[in-house]
Amino acid sequence: MPDILEKTRLPFNQLGVSSGKEIEELFRQLLEQANQDAKSIVDSEGLEEFRVKWLGRNKGICQRVGDHWLKTAPQEMKKWVGSNLNHFKDSVEAILGYQKTSIQTLELDQPSVDLTLPGIKQTLGTLHPIRQTMDELERIFLSIGFSVVEGPEIETPYYNFEALNIPEHHPARDPLDTVYLELPRGAPGQLLLRTHTSPMQARTMEKQQPPVRIIVPGKVYRRDNPDATHSYVFHQLECLAVDTDITFCDFKGTVEYFVTQFLGPRVKTRMRPSYFPFTEPSAEVDATCLFCDGKGCTKCKQSGWIELFGAGMVDPAVYGFANYDAKKLSGFAFGLGVDRMAMLKYGTDIQTLFQNDVRFLRQFQ
Ligand code: FA5
Repeated sequence: MPDILEKTRLPFNQLGVSSGKEIEELFRQLLEQANQDAKSIVDSEGLEEFRVKWLGRNKGICQRVGDHWLKTAPQEMKKWVGSNLNHFKDSVEAILGYQKTSIQTLELDQPSVDLTLPGIKQTLGTLHPIRQTMDELERIFLSIGFSVVEGPEIETPYYNFEALNIPEHHPARDPLDTVYLELPRGAPGQLLLRTHTSPMQARTMEKQQPPVRIIVPGKVYRRDNPDATHSYVFHQLECLAVDTDITFCDFKGTVEYFVTQFLGPRVKTRMRPSYFPFTEPSAEVDATCLFCDGKGCTKCKQSGWIELFGAGMVDPAVYGFANYDAKKLSGFAFGLGVDRMAMLKYGTDIQTLFQNDVRFLRQFQ
């Protein structure tokens, strides 16, 4: 008796079958062979081999047997053969499905990872202390009605100096203090890296009518030699308020509110006369030393006070550059060093803030 697969290659009428029963017997034998094949499957590769051999679209046994028998079956038997073929194919698919589930369970039961080993701890990053300081400053000002605006780090001398009433001969404009960009030959004008965030005063007033209540956080650049309190790239936060009825009291109240919110309620502030071309009167704002509570220590050079930032009432000349009516308006402005505020708060030197030493940064989780 020829092998069952050999038999399937014979034309239907040469199978020598005399009844439907005998054809059913052939299907049964084919299924038995499929079952035998399935028993030797041990992994996903074996599953795929079985699938291609029995259910492959072109040369799979189900397909070949079907094509051949349907072609050679007498017309009156085609329907019957077709339904048996479908049944046969469903059975082979069921065998494959069953094997698939058991192989997958088997593979899962043999873990390639030892789940009992202790895990590898992933160290989480954290916001840089300067970013944290900036966020906290912004939060304080946002809570009292200021909005945040940002400006370009590459500026024109007009916004960085002229519109702030800083004259041509002022030493801050010297290339020894300010970084000017090298422009292509013949390019009109000059460009520089902004030396403070104050240029956003004029830029904002040009665009917006009063009332103005903004803060401007950002990077600034100066040709300063790096030391414990200086860096050539550092961060400032500008504050500007302009309206029809702003007084020195509003100025002082805002400064005191923000300093105590940031440094704590025990800190006191004072203002010393100072000079900036764009504020009049101008002041330096000091706070009682955080390290000795104002008693005097080496950090505050025994004075009990620490210098915080420059400030003042907006000089009426500045309104002129923005077409604001200086007779009707008044306002205040200040610009603080964010890095210096971070130094004060975290008791560190400015250079450590830029060295990216994780042993230092890890403290500020
Ligand atoms: C100004 O830059 C003014 N634009 C501030 C201002 C704004 C005054 C509005 C009045 C009205 P000053 O040069 O003092 O001012 O710088 C402001 C702050 O930046 C300083 O108080 C200090 O905290 C910080 N700072 C200055 N130079 C450096 C530096 N090289 N490194 C780190 N921080 C610095």
